[in-house]
Amino acid sequence: MDLKQYVSEVENWPKEGVSFKDITTIMDNGPAYKYATDQIVEYAAEKDVDIVVGPEARGFIIGCPVAYSMGIGFAPVRKKGKLPREVLEFEYDLEYGTNVLTMHKDAIKPGQRVLITDDLLATGGTIMATIKLIEAMGGIVAGIAFLIELEYLNGMELLEGYDTISLITYES
Ligand code: PRP
Ligand code: MG
Repeated sequence: MDLKQYVSEVENWPKEGVSFKDITTIMDNGPAYKYATDQIVEYAAEKDVDIVVGPEARGFIIGCPVAYSMGIGFAPVRKKGKLPREVLEFEYDLEYGTNVLTMHKDAIKPGQRVLITDDLLATGGTIMATIKLIEAMGGIVAGIAFLIELEYLNGMELLEGYDTISLITYES
């Protein structure tokens, strides 16, 4: 299945010059959503993963069906102030300003093998923050799966040394 044909490219949204990759037209198509999920499950099955971690909000859409399919758990990465118990925080830079991502500090047990999922790799800031949180808890990042990679933003350079898969890529 050519998943790219199910992505809606929205020009000049949310601002002039940006071509937004809308994944809702994958999600609302049963066979396409299942195919994408199954591809990631197949990847993760070889990595012997214990748990899936995804950053809100779109990382949940990708990661939760993978966790369900594999019969393993899912731990959320959330923006500051959303998780009720004790958290670890990691702050990272955005184009303008900074963002803080958090995880419950007992979400990952030392030595657990983790699959990270997100809908899209752009600059890599979100995923680096996610990696830092997992590794601070002693987790092992066994694999990282993206639905979409924007190659021209070079986020993969940040992820050198980690095992990754991108189901759909855009070169420009
Ligand atoms: C988007 C996208 C990725 C991230 C990629 O999330 O879902 O998580 O940006 O960008 P990066 O590689 O430059 O970090 P966003 O922060 O817009 O929030 P959302 O998932 O809650 O919509
Ligand atoms: Mg996101």
